[in-house]
Amino acid sequence: MASTKTDASADAWQPKPAGWWERHMVPRLIGCACSQGQIMKRRSHVVPRASGDVLELGCGGGINMEFYDPSRVKSFSGIDPSPALLERSREAAQAIGMEADIRGGIGEAMPFDDASFDTLVCTFTLCSVDEQQAVLGEIRRVLRPGGKALFLEHGSAPDAGVRKWQRRIEPVWKRIGGNCHLTRPIAKAYDDAGFKLASGGSGYMPKTPRPFGWTEWGEARVA
Ligand SMILES: C[S@@+](CC[C@H](N)C(=O)[O-])C[C@H]1O[C@@H](n2cnc3c(N)ncnc32)[C@H](O)[C@@H]1O
Repeated sequence: MASTKTDASADAWQPKPAGWWERHMVPRLIGCACSQGQIMKRRSHVVPRASGDVLELGCGGGINMEFYDPSRVKSFSGIDPSPALLERSREAAQAIGMEADIRGGIGEAMPFDDASFDTLVCTFTLCSVDEQQAVLGEIRRVLRPGGKALFLEHGSAPDAGVRKWQRRIEPVWKRIGGNCHLTRPIAKAYDDAGFKLASGGSGYMPKTPRPFGWTEWGEARVA
């Protein structure tokens, strides 16, 4: 049985000191890269399926906010480690009149009790966390039995030639792109973490260089 994480490690979380690039450029990069038309279209298929008590992990600049269906969301919480992005998330929630508990925190140690949520939304975030498997364990822990994780991520491509470029580019890219990795598995990572994949899809984003463009989306259920 997973333990309840309202302990010191989650509550004592503090943002890492961030340099000029992280404070000013990374939020802009994320805002531009993550709100392209095709990505917004894909979000519009994933995010409205959130229902009940909802947690968005890595709620970032609040780009998903416009896609929630208020008639299905009973409560909304969000966490993200970036103070600059948290502010944007709060503004986005306010702009649509969504009552929201948006706090600083990381996916590796979430400040929530076991089985607190019906839906966890995680988009373009597993690429940026420090420990993907630890985060997936936490997602399982905070979801209720039968709860669902809705995901939309970019990651390791199925083509060997593209994966070679992903491996080459990643060391530099993650330094300028807020720890964004290109070579991480997505649906397979949920599967390996014991989720049951209920629906989903995958493909290269149009008009995006392939090493950055492989995306997978879907619903992963707590088995
Ligand atoms: C590429 S942005 C995506 C933002 C947002 N989820 C979206 O779909 O537009 C990656 C996000 O992951 C957040 N992040 C980085 N490390 C994290 C961690 N350990 N736990 C939770 N979020 C993290 C970043 O602050 C950032 O908001």
